[in-house]
Amino acid sequence: MSGNLIALLYLASAVLFIFGLKGLTRVKTARRGNAMAAAAMLLAGITTLVEMGKVDYRWILAGLVVGGTIGLIAALKVAMTSMPEMVALFNGFGGGASALVALSVFSLALMEGGTSLALSSSVSGFLSVFIGGVTLTGSLVAFGKLSGKLGGAPVVLPGRHWINAALLLVILGAVASFLMSSEATSSAMVTSFLIVTALSLVLGVLMVIPIGGADMPVVISLLNSLSGVAAAATGFVLAHNLLIIGGALVGASGLILTQIMCVAMNRTLGNVLFSGFGGATASGDSRDYQNITSCGPEEAAMVLESAGSVIMVPGYGLAVAQAQHVARELGDLLEARGARVSYAIHPVAGRMPGHMNVLLADADVPYEKLFEMDAINSDFKTTDVVLVVGANDVVNPAAETDPNSPIAGMPILKCYEAQTVMMIKRSLSPGFAGIKNTLFDNDNTMMIFGDAKAVLQGLVAELKELAH
Ligand code: TAP
Repeated sequence: MSGNLIALLYLASAVLFIFGLKGLTRVKTARRGNAMAAAAMLLAGITTLVEMGKVDYRWILAGLVVGGTIGLIAALKVAMTSMPEMVALFNGFGGGASALVALSVFSLALMEGGTSLALSSSVSGFLSVFIGGVTLTGSLVAFGKLSGKLGGAPVVLPGRHWINAALLLVILGAVASFLMSSEATSSAMVTSFLIVTALSLVLGVLMVIPIGGADMPVVISLLNSLSGVAAAATGFVLAHNLLIIGGALVGASGLILTQIMCVAMNRTLGNVLFSGFGGATASGDSRDYQNITSCGPEEAAMVLESAGSVIMVPGYGLAVAQAQHVARELGDLLEARGARVSYAIHPVAGRMPGHMNVLLADADVPYEKLFEMDAINSDFKTTDVVLVVGANDVVNPAAETDPNSPIAGMPILKCYEAQTVMMIKRSLSPGFAGIKNTLFDNDNTMMIFGDAKAVLQGLVAELKELAH
């Protein structure tokens, strides 16, 4: 294949990546964006292998079939609620792959006597091994915490900042000694690789274990960004422009998403990474509450029947219960009875960005009924009933009233201003932040205990009954 055609194919992949990313910014165009980015990846991979020229087409086909089958099975089997874990794994593998490619370039150079590496390639190579290593083990810990295989609470080692700083210094020392030795000997190279690889893997674990479960989505998005930076660094090692472009796109978009989430929680990235948030403060069970009012679907349906305006607030529990379809059914029923129904989306509701939008889109809730926090927060005070379905932290007034709360300053949906608040959840257990929710004790709050789907089905049945 001619060089011009190869360059054209790379350009086409880069353009597809950019338009794919743009498509992913809106729910309506997200599927198309995803397909475009996947096509770009496929085109990039095949073009690279063809450009190398030495690879047998049968190997390319075999790689496509094996990789495609694993991806297909994973995508079909994973539940919507497990998506963040899956993303964590993908980030980790991306980082690990970048580190392995850089290591293989180093190994080749070693076999050629260590003299074939330019300074820029060496620096990029070490960056790739370092960032890729941290991303791999950090993502595996994040996966373990999100999937419940590891405890979600922060593991805060005494003097952890000093330990991390010491590890970083040793890594920097190993890289510097390699770069400064004019005649790189094989043993010096091997020692430097081993030190940087091993300590980067340890650092990834140590950096993520002190971070609590509630902050994992932020960590995952940061690790996603790092996996992009590692890929871009590998692109410099291989002098592969498309890898640099793709890596830079992932790196930048991951960083922007991280920033958006931090703003939505009123926390700095430093606070998320270094504060050990969500550990010692964990509290919130029946002993913490004095003024709980609970009711069943029958009583709740009677209140809903006369409501002129209803706002539904979905949270992680809606995803767990897979209650999005029955939530929509209830919304439709209330609308048919003359109520104005809207859905309020907190930017960090659930366990990943856009979690609630995806679920409600799955149930065909019209986009125009979905309102972001800032757009709907002023409506709560004129709303008759707010139905909080499996949300907790994102509606906790303690964020506004208790300056000592771990979520102090986090913007919340102001449900407490509505005339009546109905909280659907299974118990008085806390949300992901592990703290008491003062909303439960309010006089205008009715708790409806039970699985979100079962309770919503009960409400639908009662409302239908009342209509007869
Ligand atoms: P949470 O505060 O975690 O609360 C979810 C609630 O759902 C729980 O209190 C749980 O109570 C209830 N629940 C679980 N399964 C249920 C079921 N089958 N039926 C009914 N209820 C069920 O969720 P949230 O309000 O969505 O807040 C998200 C949290 O994640 C926040 O802490 C936020 O800061 C954090 N976070 C999210 C993101 C992103 S991007 N989404 C990023 C960073 C941090 P019961 O056990 O009593 O049922």
